Amino acid sequence: MLQTSKGKSPFYPGQPVPIELFAGRDQQIHHIIERGVRQVEAGKPVAMYIQGEYGIGKSSIAGFTQGLAEREHHLHGIYAPLGSAESLDDIGAAVLEATLRSGAFDPKRTEKVRDWLAKYVGDQSLFGFTIHTEDLKKDAPTVAAGMLPFLKEVVERLKDTGVTGVFMVLDEINGITTNPKFSHFIKGIVDTNAMSSKPLPLLMMLCGVEERRREVITHHQPVDRIFDVIDVKTMSPDEMRDFFNKAFASVQVRVESDAMDLLTEYSAGFPKIMHLVGDAAFWLDQDGVISREDAFQAVLIAAEEVGKKYVDQQVYKALRSADYHSILAKIAKMGPDSMSFRKSDVVTGLTETEKRKFHNFLQKMKSLKVLRSGDVQGEYLFNMRMVRLYIWLQSLQKNSSRTR
Ligand SMILES: Nc1ncnc2c1ncn2[C@@H]1O[C@H](COP(=O)(O)OP(=O)(O)OP(=O)(O)O)[C@@H](O)[C@H]1O
Ligand SMILES: [Mg+2]
Repeated sequence: MLQTSKGKSPFYPGQPVPIELFAGRDQQIHHIIERGVRQVEAGKPVAMYIQGEYGIGKSSIAGFTQGLAEREHHLHGIYAPLGSAESLDDIGAAVLEATLRSGAFDPKRTEKVRDWLAKYVGDQSLFGFTIHTEDLKKDAPTVAAGMLPFLKEVVERLKDTGVTGVFMVLDEINGITTNPKFSHFIKGIVDTNAMSSKPLPLLMMLCGVEERRREVITHHQPVDRIFDVIDVKTMSPDEMRDFFNKAFASVQVRVESDAMDLLTEYSAGFPKIMHLVGDAAFWLDQDGVISREDAFQAVLIAAEEVGKKYVDQQVYKALRSADYHSILAKIAKMGPDSMSFRKSDVVTGLTETEKRKFHNFLQKMKSLKVLRSGDVQGEYLFNMRMVRLYIWLQSLQKNSSRTR
């Protein structure tokens, strides 16, 4: 029997996870709340850096803790994605816009913010409200140059709604870290605040990969000392199970235990893959129960998705080229958890033709930034788990279509 409507999928492959579906990460959350949020609530400014590879869950952790801090710790959350920012003025614009959009969980705060910044707010539209971008851009340099006074003003304006401090997230910093001014900007905020007779209770949180943090430090060494670095790694099987159970239960779907094993095994602790696999299973399911077969099909669909969405076209094509395909499949079978391999281990399983091409294959993979050399001679490491998973899923798919 055909189902008429499936309702809303509880999976969000491309977005930070909604608070009610957030799973796991107890240790990181605890650390951020105790060492960050509570310290700031008590009046002491803190700077944190959420560090982890692409798609590992940095923004979700930032969003989740910001929500907690807003509801339970008197902090006002400002979430500024800096994806398209290249200059400090761009940061000013992003923070100003983020402030305009802040306070969503408490209508009183939204109202106060909108009244204060009314000159930037345009008409109500289908998607909330429009923003007078020109005015906003004009004032952005003032906000950037006076970030602390601006944030102090936020607290001042909101203090009768219970706000005593600010939790500002600067996310997606990849574009801006190349600019040396960014390092000085961050250090400047921290230092000026610390020296002030009445410091602003400010939790400043940056989210990015480790390389970006190192880049910021390269431009201005003392930045090294200001951040409490929170490492985000892959999820444990328990965390993944917790997530799948929560997500499927929210749409009254049950997951059979052998199906759960497949979902968690193939997600390999990677939240982005978890959502892709889960979403595929959600749409495949016809009877409110995720069986092992549903889960298996979902993994195959997710493999394609990962490849199409996340593996750069150039890499994708190279990975698919006939010449290197068989070599790659052999490496892929070593399993998604092994992010490294030894040349000698691979060679033993290669045919003579493959052996001759192996060197060029490795060079090509290095130039495409799929692989890099390890510390030990003859060792190679995958740069991105996403790519590693993709080729692994891809090799599974090849196997299964052959045996069908
Ligand atoms: N704790 C969690 N529980 C459930 N889903 C999560 C969790 N953390 C992340 N996700 C999901 O995983 C995916 C990646 O998460 P998120 O966008 O937070 O990662 P990120 O590290 O910020 O990624 P990027 O490097 O692309 O900015 C999203 O689909 C998100 O919904
Ligand atoms: Mg993110």
